[in-house]
Amino acid sequence: MVPHTIAVIGGTGPQGKGLGFRFALAGHSVLIGSRSQERATAAAEEIAARLPAGATITGKDNATAAGSAEICVLAVPFAGHDDLVTSLRDQLAGKIVVSCVNPLGFDKAGPYGLAVDGGSAAERAAALLPQSRVVGAFHHLSAVRLLADDKPLDAEDVLVCGDDKTAKQLVMDLATAVVGRPGVDAGRLRMARQLEPLTAVLISINKRYRTHAGIAVTGL
Ligand SMILES: NC(=O)c1ccc[n+]([C@@H]2O[C@H](COP(=O)([O-])OP(=O)(O)OC[C@H]3O[C@@H](n4cnc5c(N)ncnc54)[C@H](OP(=O)(O)O)[C@@H]3O)[C@@H](O)[C@H]2O)c1
Repeated sequence: MVPHTIAVIGGTGPQGKGLGFRFALAGHSVLIGSRSQERATAAAEEIAARLPAGATITGKDNATAAGSAEICVLAVPFAGHDDLVTSLRDQLAGKIVVSCVNPLGFDKAGPYGLAVDGGSAAERAAALLPQSRVVGAFHHLSAVRLLADDKPLDAEDVLVCGDDKTAKQLVMDLATAVVGRPGVDAGRLRMARQLEPLTAVLISINKRYRTHAGIAVTGL
């Protein structure tokens, strides 16, 4: 695949670090974004220490990272999502924006998918970013597995949804960096309404089987 410059917004968290690690390992140029330049630099250095010479990963504040990348991955909690996305609207204009955000709640009975105004986090991002092409992907990859070692997660599939065919195809190709093969086309962006809360099922399985479960699609 052609190498891309990819910003991971909220890249200091486990999911952002894990995806940044995998993208950089595959030869993409990665910008780890944070609200703090200091935290961004620390996270980028931590990941760089695990990468071969020649890999490119740098820490920047979220706005600089978003403004410098072709593809921006939103890896922030759902709480605070709208404000952050809105604040980056200018930097994200004209870009492909990938949401792996899972709006989940937890109570005594365990995890559950939150009811989201607008359908899903990915659709909210699309509504807030009219000049960006928003794609949903990477919702079901465990950060623990992403960071465990550098072997492709080839037992798992990346389900990708979006309304812009070109953007969706590019993100399906990008999934190769993580699972060793292209992502699975899961349909239009509104499928994020199903993909995001499905993560609650995985977390529930994880608790019962003491594992980090993923998704694999058969019959393709
Ligand atoms: N963890 C997983 O295994 C996993 C798997 C699949 C999908 N996801 C999804 O990926 C996203 C990130 O997950 P995570 O576990 O890495 O989350 P996290 O550690 O809670 O947050 C990631 C980063 O987001 C920034 N952040 C936190 N609160 C924020 C706010 N109110 N406004 C703006 N930025 C904020 C922080 O970076 P700075 O303080 O440096 O700005 C933080 O390090 C979530 O939406 C989650 O549902 C996670």
